[in-house]
Amino acid sequence: MSKKVFVTGGAGYIGSHTCVELLKSNHSIMVYDNLSNGSLEALKRVETLTNKKLKFVEGDICNFDFLEQSICEFQPDIVLHFAGLKAVGESVTDPLRYYEVNLKGSLNILGAMSLTKCNKLVFSSSATVYGDKNVPPYKETGQLQPVSPYGRTKLIFEQILQDWVKSDKKHRAIALRYFNPVGAHESGMIGENPQDKPDNLMPFLAQVACKKRQYLSIFGIDYPTKDGTGVRDFIHVTDLALGHAKAIEKIERLERFQILNLGTGKGTTVLELIKSFETSTGIKVPLRFVARRAGDVAISLADPTEAENLLNFKCEKTIQDMCVDEWNWQTKNPNGY
Ligand code: NAD
Ligand code: WQD
Repeated sequence: MSKKVFVTGGAGYIGSHTCVELLKSNHSIMVYDNLSNGSLEALKRVETLTNKKLKFVEGDICNFDFLEQSICEFQPDIVLHFAGLKAVGESVTDPLRYYEVNLKGSLNILGAMSLTKCNKLVFSSSATVYGDKNVPPYKETGQLQPVSPYGRTKLIFEQILQDWVKSDKKHRAIALRYFNPVGAHESGMIGENPQDKPDNLMPFLAQVACKKRQYLSIFGIDYPTKDGTGVRDFIHVTDLALGHAKAIEKIERLERFQILNLGTGKGTTVLELIKSFETSTGIKVPLRFVARRAGDVAISLADPTEAENLLNFKCEKTIQDMCVDEWNWQTKNPNGY
């Protein structure tokens, strides 16, 4: 059934891919984004790709009055909450900003929703909440010990949602714990658009391949894994987007507060990802082997069973698809949007 979806952070990487899948499923959308790390061009391309329109409001989740006004005007059935800050290292040097945006901004959303009939929210959480004390694959019931302020903002907001849901029988929330989202829409029209030097492996790899950067540093070759490099559960951003469409469809039938991993359950080492990228693109990527990066875990891997059972969600895309689509986006948009 078609729903009215209020999408905070919809002009960003995961939000824009999710908007494509929501419009394809005939939902109507209002995107609320301050464009600090998102792009209006991404939203124009979402409309071109789907041949459908969405509403856009430029606004900050920290501006309660404007947020409330926008939510009250749109009267959504459900909120998808992507907006926030996500750089782990920056959260260590500027923790208060992360608490301000990721927590106060998120509380503002719940506050603004209380002035409408909307009582359902899907939250972008992260596998980073698991920390390094679990034996992979991680189940949703695993130990939660995030190591950065960023990770703590995700965990604390999950706990706030749990209390919010308990406070009123009509409230429902899903926290989706994303593993490592990579790749781009298969058209190459939308993708990840890092403003500065990328923090994450895949966008850095793509920038080295197109000679924007000289070499890729491999952070650690002495992990207890098959080739000594870290293992991650890379998930194609389109699969992730489809997971959100399923969450909207099923939210009424789940526990009133549901936490779900979104990952493939398949581990890939850093070197395997690079090999697959090289095979997919025909480009040899210059590498340097350096020390481990502080805060990295050896293996991060989802147990995706709950999402499979409860959302009927299974990732379809392969590592090769992720590499091919990343490269297609990078070569079609060498300077981003
Ligand atoms: P992104 O930075 O591309 O998108 C976030 C969007 O939110 C941007 O468009 C930005 O302009 C907007 N935004 C930021 N602060 C805002 C504010 N105060 N008010 C309004 N809009 C604001 O990031 P993404 O990769 O698409 O991530 C989306 C969500 O998923 C984030 O909450 C992130 O923490 C979470 N997440 C991301 C990853 C990942 O690897 N990309 C993994 C796990 C969880
Ligand atoms: C993957 C692997 C690195 C860059 C981060 C956040 C997490 C979530 C997803 C938001 C690791 C190695 C990386 C490089 C490398 N985001 N690497 N050279 O750290 O698993 O997760 O993004 O919620 O919270 O922490 O992703 O892509 O940075 O790293 O060798 O230049 O690649 O050491 O093993 P990570 P990543």
